[in-house]
Amino acid sequence: MKKLYIETYGCQMNVNDTEVVFSILARHGYERTEEIAEADVIMANTCSIRDNAEQRIWGRIDYFNTFRKAKPALVVGILGCMAERLKDALLDTGKVNIVAGPDAYRSLPMLLDAVCEGHPQINVELSREETYGDISPVRIDKNGVSAFISIMRGCNNVCSYCVVPFTRGAERSRDYHTIVREACECVEAGYKEITLLGQNVDSYHFEDVDFAKLLEMVARISSTLRVRFSTSHPKDISDAVIETMAAWPNICHHIHLPVQSGNDRILEKMRRRYSREWYLERVAKIRELMPDCGITTDAIVGFCSETEEEFRDTLSIFEEVGYDAAFMFNYSERPGTLASRQYPDDIPLDVKTRRLNELIELQNRLSLESNRKDVGKVFEVLVEGPSKKDPSELCGRTGSNKMCVWADTAHKAGDYVKVRVKDCTQATMLCELA
Ligand code: 5AD
Ligand code: SF4
Repeated sequence: MKKLYIETYGCQMNVNDTEVVFSILARHGYERTEEIAEADVIMANTCSIRDNAEQRIWGRIDYFNTFRKAKPALVVGILGCMAERLKDALLDTGKVNIVAGPDAYRSLPMLLDAVCEGHPQINVELSREETYGDISPVRIDKNGVSAFISIMRGCNNVCSYCVVPFTRGAERSRDYHTIVREACECVEAGYKEITLLGQNVDSYHFEDVDFAKLLEMVARISSTLRVRFSTSHPKDISDAVIETMAAWPNICHHIHLPVQSGNDRILEKMRRRYSREWYLERVAKIRELMPDCGITTDAIVGFCSETEEEFRDTLSIFEEVGYDAAFMFNYSERPGTLASRQYPDDIPLDVKTRRLNELIELQNRLSLESNRKDVGKVFEVLVEGPSKKDPSELCGRTGSNKMCVWADTAHKAGDYVKVRVKDCTQATMLCELA
């Protein structure tokens, strides 16, 4: 057996792709190692979403190459979005032996065989069909509680800032039979929580099954299986999905609903295809059917030509929705995207950063306010394992995706436990057994 080490960057989809790669290569004599120094093959599954994500990988490539001294036959591979975006430019550095895009993982055994004979190998073909539907991923998360299942690949939305349609290709949905089968395998293996993954889960459709139906099919597998999903698109999230969430007690009440901006002119320029009003109506619908639903978001500040006033609209939509948590970013121009071709990246970095800090500060307050509302309440949480700060405490999440910690020696990862919230910080609910 040869030893394979993979580092994973970027989104949850990438984590799941790494699991697919381990599965494909396990059948071809590659065993997983977590010790980079003993690896025969070192790979990075990469992200291109922002320039700083790519910069980090360049640093890692240099680091991987330091192991060649001890191991001249070492193979360094770049997988994922950066492989797809940069293609031969990665091989041209002389530091990389294999480049494989997100739809090329079935060819990895072949590429590895060929590279062992001396020539660098590349496959960045994108596919209209590939979903890796028949492959059972080798789970890499250690707690054995929570598993990711990809239900679709690629993306057909062309948000003007986003590189993903270029790196992951056209949207395709995976056969629901294979999704349900994989979920059943997870349940049999003891997993208690499944997260269904797609760039835009609301546009899932395979034959006559849409996302609402798929959610129900997965929820039906076992009442003790929690079902989550990510990511929803505000323009596509349907009443049927919200109603299905409300109807099934084991579908977690949490929706990640990236807003990106609170201003209509910027939303239009971003090609998000919804308005502020539409977004707020979807939030109202979610709250109407599930008052306890966690709502989280992504936002970009300093998009091309964004004025101070337009940025204030992002602040005000955050305030109006009262998000439980958010991921916030400076706009980073990505080569090839519509925005990079049509609009100058004209907001100075110091302005972007000042806006970002302002938004983060606001969200810190909103997160704290949201957590404070839960103090005194009792929640059923799924134990993930010992808390990171204090091993005598356990941690786990509420259905709404809030992290709880509490003192406990009686339970273990995978148990459902009722806890009462005693106090909170902006990031954590401090609880006791209820
Ligand atoms: N610059 C900054 N942030 C971006 N995102 C996507 N593309 C860019 C970009 N070019 C953010 C969006 C998206 C999240 C995954 O990353 O907020 O929802
Ligand atoms: Fe990064 Fe987007 Fe690719 Fe995920 S799909 S790895 S977030 S660029």
